[in-house]
Amino acid sequence: MKPAVQIEVLRELMDQLDAGVNADAGGIRACPAAAYTCPDLAKREWDAFFRTHPQIVGMTADLPSPGSFLTTEDVGVPMLVTRDAAGKVRAFLNACRHRGAMVETAVKGQKSRFSCPFHAWTYDSSGALIGVPMQDHFGDIDRACLGLVELPALELYGFLIVHPDPKGHIDPDVLFQGVAEDLQTWDWGRYAIAFEQTLDMKMNWKLATDTFGETYHFKRLHKDTLANSFHGDVLSYRSYERNHRMILCLRAIDDLRGKPESEWRIEGGGFPVYFLFPNVVVNVGDSRIAVVRVYPAPGDPGRSITRITYYFDRDVLAENPGFAQLFSDGFTRVVADEDYATAETTQRALASGLLPEVIFGRNEPPLHHYHNVFRTALGMEPLPFVA
Ligand code: FES
Ligand SMILES: [Fe+2]
Repeated sequence: MKPAVQIEVLRELMDQLDAGVNADAGGIRACPAAAYTCPDLAKREWDAFFRTHPQIVGMTADLPSPGSFLTTEDVGVPMLVTRDAAGKVRAFLNACRHRGAMVETAVKGQKSRFSCPFHAWTYDSSGALIGVPMQDHFGDIDRACLGLVELPALELYGFLIVHPDPKGHIDPDVLFQGVAEDLQTWDWGRYAIAFEQTLDMKMNWKLATDTFGETYHFKRLHKDTLANSFHGDVLSYRSYERNHRMILCLRAIDDLRGKPESEWRIEGGGFPVYFLFPNVVVNVGDSRIAVVRVYPAPGDPGRSITRITYYFDRDVLAENPGFAQLFSDGFTRVVADEDYATAETTQRALASGLLPEVIFGRNEPPLHHYHNVFRTALGMEPLPFVA
């Protein structure tokens, strides 16, 4: 985030605090319960936003060096993502070209060769088939045509992006529209991974994401946790075509007031949160980020899987691993025990069929924006103001 933008945002937050106002969506919208419970809608979302949409599968630190790999099946396609010998990020269908067995079952690791467990056909990190045992018995095949099925992959601003369709196209201008200028300045490519957590919850994936969409609840739900270090009911908010940026307000902002603006840094008073359509929330602390990826459970609108990965500036992590653990555990605990535990109760109420809708207030503009982005992307009418 450029220094001039940091000052502008900090000033905006101070002005809101002084005036006792919050970000304002301009009206109230009602979101029908079906947004969270309808199996048909869930299927359309799965197809449009996951199976046929580019996915952020991790960060540069997840593939730290040539020969690093990760596997994932979060969007229903078994993927093997590698950093090849030349350092380039590659992605493949994690399926052997012989009879389709998964060639790698570990979640992460370091390997220059992937040997299929079934009959040991072997591939290198660029997907080439380099070994077939007993080929004289097996018969004549053209190895050059039997490399792993490649998926489009891109590494940008420290993100690893894979398209689950071999014929798909990754357009970074669409993916990072509105936030690219900020992302260029953060230097997350040099961060190191600290911890990973997975939360398997009984709630719709959008209900999970909703919990990251306002500060109205900070002084209430988080009165004993986040409210100790954040001002609630205040928010710097910018929405773009599909993405948005929120800057939460740290209580430490009060200490900036007496200092010249030239000394202000965003981490001294603000906590940026980027929403990257369709399912990623990046929470930005001082020299650390918590990347939250939320996935629907296919076939069940009432369940979702959240992966939270913590990355730290390398030097900060090396100097103070205890702090990294404390921050990561604390963040996950607030999300799981407070935000998500509450959202699960909402899901149960919605599933009863007796609650027709939920209401997004003027002070919850991110919810208005991204629900309407989802709806518009599926050809549905955006939610109108009801008041
Ligand atoms: S299925 Fe992989 S070697 Fe046979
Ligand atoms: Fe929260």
